[in-house]
Amino acid sequence: MASASLTPPALVGRSAELAVLDGHFGAALVRQTALMLTGEAGVGKTALLDAAALRAAGAGFRVLRVAGCPFRRGVGFSALNQLLQPLADGLPSLPARQAETLQAVRGLSEEQPAELLAIANAVHALLARTVAGTGPLALIVDDVAWVDRPSATVLGTVARSLHTEPIALLGAARTGDESFLSNIGIPEYEVGPLDEVSANELVAERFPAMAARVRRRLVAEARGNPLALLELPVPLNDLQQTERGTLPAVLPLTERLKGIFSTRVTALPAATRKLLLLAVLDGSGELHILQRALGLPDGLAGLSPAERAGLVQVDGVTGRLEFRHPLTRSAVMELATSEERRWAQLALAAELPAGSEHRARHLADAAVGPDDEVAALLHEVAYRTLRRGDAVGAITTLLRASELSGTGTAKARRLAEAACLGANITGDLRNVRALLDNAGHADPSGVGSLAAATAAASRLLNGEGDVDTAHRLLIGAIETHVWPEDGESVEDIFREALNTLLMVCFYGGRPVLWHSFEDVVKRRRPPTSRRLLPVILGAFADPAYGALPFLDRLDHLVSGLHQQTDPVRVFGVALSASYIDRLPGCRSALRRVVDDGRDGGAVALAIQAQFLLANDAYAGGQWDELLEITEEGLGWCATYDYRLTASTGHFQRGLVAAARGDGDTAREIADRLVSWGNPRGLGALRVYAAHIRALSALGGADFDAAHRLLRALVTPGEVPRFMPHALWLLLDFAEAAVHTDHHEEAAAHIAAVRGTDIPSISPRLAMLTDACEAMANPDVIDHGLFEAAIATPGAERWPFDWARICLAYGERLRRAKAGGAARVHLDAALGTFERLGATPWSARAAGELRASGIPVKPLRPVESEDRDRHALLTPQERVAAQLAATGLTNKQIAARLFLSPRTVAAHLRSVFRKLNVTSRGGLRDALTGPMP
Ligand SMILES: Nc1ncnc2c1ncn2[C@@H]1O[C@H](COP(=O)(O)OP(=O)(O)OP(=O)(O)O)[C@@H](O)[C@H]1O
Ligand SMILES: [Mg+2]
Repeated sequence: MASASLTPPALVGRSAELAVLDGHFGAALVRQTALMLTGEAGVGKTALLDAAALRAAGAGFRVLRVAGCPFRRGVGFSALNQLLQPLADGLPSLPARQAETLQAVRGLSEEQPAELLAIANAVHALLARTVAGTGPLALIVDDVAWVDRPSATVLGTVARSLHTEPIALLGAARTGDESFLSNIGIPEYEVGPLDEVSANELVAERFPAMAARVRRRLVAEARGNPLALLELPVPLNDLQQTERGTLPAVLPLTERLKGIFSTRVTALPAATRKLLLLAVLDGSGELHILQRALGLPDGLAGLSPAERAGLVQVDGVTGRLEFRHPLTRSAVMELATSEERRWAQLALAAELPAGSEHRARHLADAAVGPDDEVAALLHEVAYRTLRRGDAVGAITTLLRASELSGTGTAKARRLAEAACLGANITGDLRNVRALLDNAGHADPSGVGSLAAATAAASRLLNGEGDVDTAHRLLIGAIETHVWPEDGESVEDIFREALNTLLMVCFYGGRPVLWHSFEDVVKRRRPPTSRRLLPVILGAFADPAYGALPFLDRLDHLVSGLHQQTDPVRVFGVALSASYIDRLPGCRSALRRVVDDGRDGGAVALAIQAQFLLANDAYAGGQWDELLEITEEGLGWCATYDYRLTASTGHFQRGLVAAARGDGDTAREIADRLVSWGNPRGLGALRVYAAHIRALSALGGADFDAAHRLLRALVTPGEVPRFMPHALWLLLDFAEAAVHTDHHEEAAAHIAAVRGTDIPSISPRLAMLTDACEAMANPDVIDHGLFEAAIATPGAERWPFDWARICLAYGERLRRAKAGGAARVHLDAALGTFERLGATPWSARAAGELRASGIPVKPLRPVESEDRDRHALLTPQERVAAQLAATGLTNKQIAARLFLSPRTVAAHLRSVFRKLNVTSRGGLRDALTGPMP
């Protein structure tokens, strides 16, 4: 029975190579062809031959295989016999002489094997006869360079002599290895490294538990060599694979890799190896550094043997020393003793200036026990690393600094800082507890430090803790914090403390929390100014009253995001932008943060970035995209334990469910938000839940319920301070109030909104304010306001809001018996709702259309006068004309219909001609006829 393990594992990637192989076999059906695969050790030649054998068999070839073997190289004809063994049955059909020749080659006759040429002829005859009997043949020879010499000579002769038979010869050998198939004009195909996507896929598939961050490192080291990709993880323990332990700077090799990469290093003279060790540890490739560290004037001469062996080269342009393969570096490290390594680290450190990051790292690597001075240097390096946007590297460095710390206080401080950055930036929330415990053991008095409090608050918020405890903890730590001398690192920790406090206040949702935030910031000024903080406090925490003064600065910050490398800063800017419609400008920067998280970088920030992108997608009507984004974000939240952060993703999905009429999902999400948030004092989650429920009720035309729910959040005539979410509820409240005959409430509310900054913040908020004010007026239809809202430039960017305004206007017009005008708006609303999948609203719009006696698509026949007029227009022209009649520009219409503005212009020219009108103003009447 065939065992499953005999099936080669599925090939990852390699579509180009497989296409070449398929072409090879395709060509061989017509005439004999030969192809050699070459490539470095472990690049995947044998794997490709395995795949090729399967494909050849699938294409009707009979496949014969053999692999050269270093231990059987001295056994004459061993390869040839193995290759031809399956054809032994055909020997009797050959002329007697040739049959005997081949029997002798197999060692089955008394005779000495004949001349090699005669053998080659016999083999040729056997192959030709087989082809004639059973069809095309594929001869696959792996490791050609190790094929025994007589077999090689015979096979080489056969390869040259076959021409017309359908035989495909396919060989493989390492690049540079001479073989019988070299230099005889056979085409060669160099198998290159796996591309990065395939490399990641291969590792992810074989080592599913491995953290993305570790994978990224391995993929970089292996440079697309599949053998290295599969072998490098082997010596790493579970902790290292799941990134709870740190990875060594140079990865260890398995025996198998050592066999390949160490042999050539071992063969080098001692002086050369010393030089290579310096080069590995230095990492810059600068020859003058190596020379100085070596301390010998002609020391670089020692490089020559390594160059000749093809292990290193000096780049002609940069003049730097390069290792041809990164794993040679590993081999050099493995072959060095610990004493040699220490010598090299110190020699390199001695050549570097005092403030250099590399110097600090060399000294740290050379240290054998605690060393306060080195620990302090490393501590500084950690924050430089953080500011470059590499929080993962910063944490690793902090942890090493804590190991080198001589005092409990310093150790505890560094551990707590690592915990803090882990919780807030890199997604290491799960490690916080252990790190803080260790910090507590090292210095029991340091548990209240700013970093420790921040890490603990993040953990509390996402775990079983409540808002007030987290708030007290943070405020207390900020109040009592004493700035140490080295203010630099503290600034970053302070920033994290404030960001955490920001989240506490936001999710707590009570103004009093924000007040003490403002107080403490005023009293405890951080060592250097934090220019973003006031922007966040104004634009995010209290946009209705605080955004306006910061809009210019924020717009400036948003426009500079494309070159921002610090993900914490990207997050801060995008957060400020989130309630005030500036997220579209942050998209590409946020996507970079997400990509970094996917790569195992700043995961905690990547989650936040996903949900900010989801906010943007909600407003922009990209709801399917929102579902995808939040699915990934929530997956990360579950993996990394960010339960509070997850609530925002749930909320966003709840809104889409409500808008699309999936009441069960909406209800379930709302219930979950409340049951999780209430005991923890998370007021924002109550608001989220009420918003979802209210939207669900509005969709279902249960206006009483919607009104009841929203009245709990909105006090008419009052726009509370520090309630950014109030900006999301304008339309909902107006709609609910108006439909339940509470026009006075809607009017009072919108009057209060007019008294805030809201209408001046963005065109969207101005549009909503106008529309709500028009809706609130029970007596007359304020055409001016409604139409101004509908014609807001760029309104197509917020399709759900816009269509709801069209619906509201259409409803009013319909009730005022202005059926013709109503139809245009209701139609536009209907089309947009349908595109969004906002089923309950589509149904409402369609219902309105029908109730007004206005024809609705297939639902009822078209009235005759309209039919006559409309029959003139194509469907596209009709829609474009209706949109033009609502006051939209060609560009806006184009965006909505996914057409080019030029096409829209052409449609409209044709409409004007057919309807005999000369202006947009005339369109509306021409389309709808005289108003009833
Ligand atoms: N595209 C691939 N997808 C999945 N696994 C692969 C792929 N390429 C190679 N491998 C795996 O990587 C390892 C090394 O590949 P392989 O043995 O084919 O290399 P090679 O080029 O034949 O090396 P050598 O020169 O030492 O013979 C094997 O375990 C193989 O299964
Ligand atoms: Mg091989």
